[in-house]
Amino acid sequence: MAGLPTSIERLDLNRHVGSVLSGFRLLDLDDKEVEALKLFVGERGVVAIRDQSMSVPEQIAFGKKLGPLHIHPAYADKTYPETLRIHTDANSKFTAGEAWHTDVSCDLEPPHISMLRIEVTPSCGGDTAFASMYRAFETLSKSMQDYLLTLSAQHNGDLPFRGAYGSKSPEEYPRNVHPVVATHPVTGRRALYVNSGFTEKIKGLTKHESDSLLDMLFEHIAKGIEFQCRVRWEPNTVTFWDNRAVQHHASWDYFPETRSGWRVTTRGERPFLAA
Ligand code: SIN
Repeated sequence: MAGLPTSIERLDLNRHVGSVLSGFRLLDLDDKEVEALKLFVGERGVVAIRDQSMSVPEQIAFGKKLGPLHIHPAYADKTYPETLRIHTDANSKFTAGEAWHTDVSCDLEPPHISMLRIEVTPSCGGDTAFASMYRAFETLSKSMQDYLLTLSAQHNGDLPFRGAYGSKSPEEYPRNVHPVVATHPVTGRRALYVNSGFTEKIKGLTKHESDSLLDMLFEHIAKGIEFQCRVRWEPNTVTFWDNRAVQHHASWDYFPETRSGWRVTTRGERPFLAA
């Protein structure tokens, strides 16, 4: 936590991924401390911070300190286009993010940091699970790691935005090819970069081979309990995650109760694999 106020209290959720911080106000951080927080999010993958009451414009302004903001290709909010409204209640037919995924990995330059602030929490449940993609890669056999390093995969926005949610929109959602293993641009660590939300096909393999390999990797991520953690939300918890270091999965176990908040997300660069 170098560069962050020393008064901060820290609780790690898992040795490899996830920390909860309290005892400071995000909006009081200066620019150097914001940079230190960004680095800490890249190292820990996910960082939840308690008791951060703020308005949507304040959240947008804080998000801009982390980097240029991403506009969601399918669900940008109409009033605040730089945000994504996260809201599920008794009338909802689905909840956003209810599968292991990386945010909007179909984009050419997919999101870097997501900042989710939940205002209304259900009486219990509604956790978000996170899995470290550093550890997902590192816990595969050396032979499998070496093979994956040679591969790239197509990510397709149609999968979640049209298929799963039954969108009738005639728009084409983004589809792009990214390396199956990407180097984190700040920490320099390698992370698995395929996810069950968006990744459609591994290039150069038959459909059967690609489906089998992706199924194995998705199962490895879903069952990787030793590199996962869960964030329990309280009203005004703000959680940051680094989409190049973790995947996440929202748990919809609170129907018909309401869970509601706002997400802002920074734009990242095109995923790459360093030599
Ligand atoms: C998402 O950004 O995928 C939603 C996460 C959540 O609501 O916990």
